[in-house]
Amino acid sequence: MKAQAALSFFILIPSLCGSQDTFFVASFSHVSMSEQIVIGRLDEDIVLPCLFESGPDVVIHWKNQDNYVYSYYKDSDQLEKQDRRYVNRTSLFRGEIHNGNASLCFKRLSLQDEGIYICYVGTLPGKITNKVVLKVAAFVAPMMKYEKDTTGGFLICNVLSVYPYPIITWKVDNTTVSENKLEEVGSLGPFSINRRVNITDLNSSYQCAIENTLLKQTWTGRWTMKDGLHKMQSEDVSLSCKCENSSFLLNQDFTVTWSRVESGNSFVLAYFLSSSQETIINKSRLSWNEELINLHDFSLTLKDLRLSDSGEYLCNISSSKYTLLTIQTLHTFCLFYLEASQETVVTIIVPTLVIVVVAILLLSVAIRAGKLRRCIRTERPLPTDQRSSNDGSAEENKVRHFLYQTIYSIRMHCKKDN
Ligand SMILES: *[C@@H]1O[C@H](CO)[C@@H](O)[C@H](O)[C@H]1NC(C)=O
Ligand SMILES: *[C@@H]1O[C@H](CO)[C@@H](O)[C@H](O)[C@H]1NC(C)=O
Ligand SMILES: *[C@@H]1O[C@H](CO)[C@@H](O)[C@H](O)[C@H]1NC(C)=O
Ligand SMILES: *[C@@H]1O[C@H](CO)[C@@H](O)[C@H](O)[C@H]1NC(C)=O
Ligand SMILES: *[C@@H]1O[C@H](CO)[C@@H](O)[C@H](O)[C@H]1NC(C)=O
Repeated sequence: MKAQAALSFFILIPSLCGSQDTFFVASFSHVSMSEQIVIGRLDEDIVLPCLFESGPDVVIHWKNQDNYVYSYYKDSDQLEKQDRRYVNRTSLFRGEIHNGNASLCFKRLSLQDEGIYICYVGTLPGKITNKVVLKVAAFVAPMMKYEKDTTGGFLICNVLSVYPYPIITWKVDNTTVSENKLEEVGSLGPFSINRRVNITDLNSSYQCAIENTLLKQTWTGRWTMKDGLHKMQSEDVSLSCKCENSSFLLNQDFTVTWSRVESGNSFVLAYFLSSSQETIINKSRLSWNEELINLHDFSLTLKDLRLSDSGEYLCNISSSKYTLLTIQTLHTFCLFYLEASQETVVTIIVPTLVIVVVAILLLSVAIRAGKLRRCIRTERPLPTDQRSSNDGSAEENKVRHFLYQTIYSIRMHCKKDN
């Protein structure tokens, strides 16, 4: 049997069992034994391929070790010996059998389904035996979370379901700080992974990558903080969010979410869905520039700033392969001196008060120093504060009171904006 050959393929067949969108094409006319590796995804469906030269009196047996997975002969399914595990989860493409297609449709894969499946087909022209090695992988899109507590900010990379155990790499400013592939002893997959890193240097970028070696897929999450913005009340500000290299956004769906981060909470302000080009804005003073969005610049304009707008803003660009988090800190300052009614307070009263207060302070220091000198000379006890305020400075108190009231009213004016 010179023609006998072993072929090896790595193929990933889309999961829709009933559809035609598989892309496996091979000629088996002179091959009586082949071996293929098929990678399926947990909970999804897969086709185990098996082609033969068509002819009459077709007998098909699919087996996993000694267990019958599926049998077909005398033009009908023969499922008496079928192992329980495969009941209602497997089927042949009945309409394709006469075309030489004995592929098995396998539904709702579990990790226990991994193994070697043999397809035996006998027809009048001959017999074939195909070997299919089924591997099952899981990789539910990972996420990067940014949170703050009293000790500072931290990042969490997590993936709810992954199999086999992935390679996890953390980088700070493109330098690898930790890498591991430590499978928890004794635990079966799929795995759920949650890794935390504290942000110790706000000027650095933090990156975490999770790689599924079986699927040859890597997800990357990256965090950076932009320089802080300092703005006056009622000004406008542009919160920037633009990725240096936006090529990764091409040919895939992504979402952009702007949110406000407060310790323990974050509030979504706006989001954009690339699939529908839809933008949603949850705050009236915010706006997005559609032309910039087309250039993958997701900077957000916040108009008519208020003091309460101070804080951290998070821009999150996420696809199934990437998450890019950009933090921008906004500091908004009080604008009282531009208000007409307060202008006089600031230009005239406050400087005058400052001079008066300084004079009074100097005066009281001088008086105290004089008293002290007298005390030392006469060896009398020092007068108490109570007495000194009673005798010397009723005037000083009045001025102080007025000053406090003015400052207080300015602060009230600043704060009333929300
Ligand atoms: C067999 O037929 C099914 C249904 O048309 C198709 O999805 C599958 O790809 C075919 N198998 C092979 C190995 O071509
Ligand atoms: C398979 O499906 C049939 C019909 O829907 C049902 O009666 C039977 O209980 C199912 N068997 C298993 C093992 O799920
Ligand atoms: C970023 O957006 C993605 C997709 O909307 C979401 O799953 C993820 O939790 C978001 N991350 C943060 C830190 O907000
Ligand atoms: C991160 O910070 C927390 C709280 O300060 C601390 O308990 C934890 O050990 C730190 N983790 C790492 C990996 O440094
Ligand atoms: C971060 O960068 C700013 C200027 O870019 C610098 O003033 C500051 O000291 C840096 N902080 C750290 C912790 O390196």
